[in-house]
Amino acid sequence: MSHKKFITLAIESSCDDTAIAVMDGEYNVLSAALSSQIDSHSKYGGVVPELASRMHQEAIMPLLKDVLAKANITDPKNEINLIAVTSGPGLMGSLLVGVMTAKALAQGWEIPLIGVNHLEGHIFANVAANKDLTPPFVSMVVSGGHTEIIHVRGFGDYELLGSTRDDAAGEAYDKIAKILGLGYPGGPIIDKLAKTGNPDAYPLPVPLSNTDLVEFSFSGLKTAAVTLLQKAERNGISIYPEDFCASFQKAVIASLTGKVQLALKNTGVKKLTLSGGVAANSGLRSALGELSAKRGIELFLPPVSMCTDNAVMIAAAGYNAYGRGAISDLSLSPNPSWEIW
Ligand code: KG4
Ligand code: ZN
Repeated sequence: MSHKKFITLAIESSCDDTAIAVMDGEYNVLSAALSSQIDSHSKYGGVVPELASRMHQEAIMPLLKDVLAKANITDPKNEINLIAVTSGPGLMGSLLVGVMTAKALAQGWEIPLIGVNHLEGHIFANVAANKDLTPPFVSMVVSGGHTEIIHVRGFGDYELLGSTRDDAAGEAYDKIAKILGLGYPGGPIIDKLAKTGNPDAYPLPVPLSNTDLVEFSFSGLKTAAVTLLQKAERNGISIYPEDFCASFQKAVIASLTGKVQLALKNTGVKKLTLSGGVAANSGLRSALGELSAKRGIELFLPPVSMCTDNAVMIAAAGYNAYGRGAISDLSLSPNPSWEIW
């Protein structure tokens, strides 16, 4: 039987990565590329929104040309079936670049358009990476902007089980790295240093560990870490970065795994997926591996390239939503605080 192609062109520009992908169906990536802005934002220790939108604007058309060429698309008007674009949540200026580009292409090529939720995209990173994954499952999305545990009852049917009261997990990594003068983004740097450090060297509190609430609070952990560092400085005690990173990472992982365990228990669901930038964390990946083996939970972890922001996940989510009957029109506008539950 010949395979009928359904080609989705996807654009992601919600934060500081301009990403474009061309995908056939939900699993088959024809080409994908990403233009990272990390070097430009790193000297500020975080993403500067104004700079991000300007850089998206510069990068997006050359990237599109590149991705179409690599996918061997010579006649986009006739070869592409759907244009999917992240339309929220995210930074307004950044989202606008992707959405306006997608609308112009949809209008010019007369192709259906769909606005995709970035968080639904992160959930679909797991779908694109695992053909066997079907709902219901519990999905933990942990990134620089998100710390959410979601019950995926069905595709398009989401229940928020818990989130953070303040900072996102990745934000906490980035802030601690900034305080320690380690660079940006902090997650991968702390993760690497933690590998050779002693996780029991510095006592740091696991936020909200004494409650049954599925909730996170990383700003309290950050404050505890800062207090510890200041006290050490006052007393002339030197801090070993490896040990400090290992201790900090231990507290973050204990918080994430503890709360996801509660969410699994409360729902009775036996499948767990992880995504978002912090899902690249080696300690978290192995802690969840252990948890799944011990509790009989089926664990899905996308490859690291699909954990951080990318357009493949947006293509998969857009394709699935379109299949469920969702569609946008040319009045599509970014919604920086769009929620899917
Ligand atoms: O998903 P993402 O690329 O962008 C957002 O939507 O935020 O996530 C970026 C975040 C940053 O905060 C970064 O420090 C964190 O993910 N991150 C990590 C690791 N790699 C990236 N955090 C902990 N360990 C890592 N290995
Ligand atoms: Zn993201």
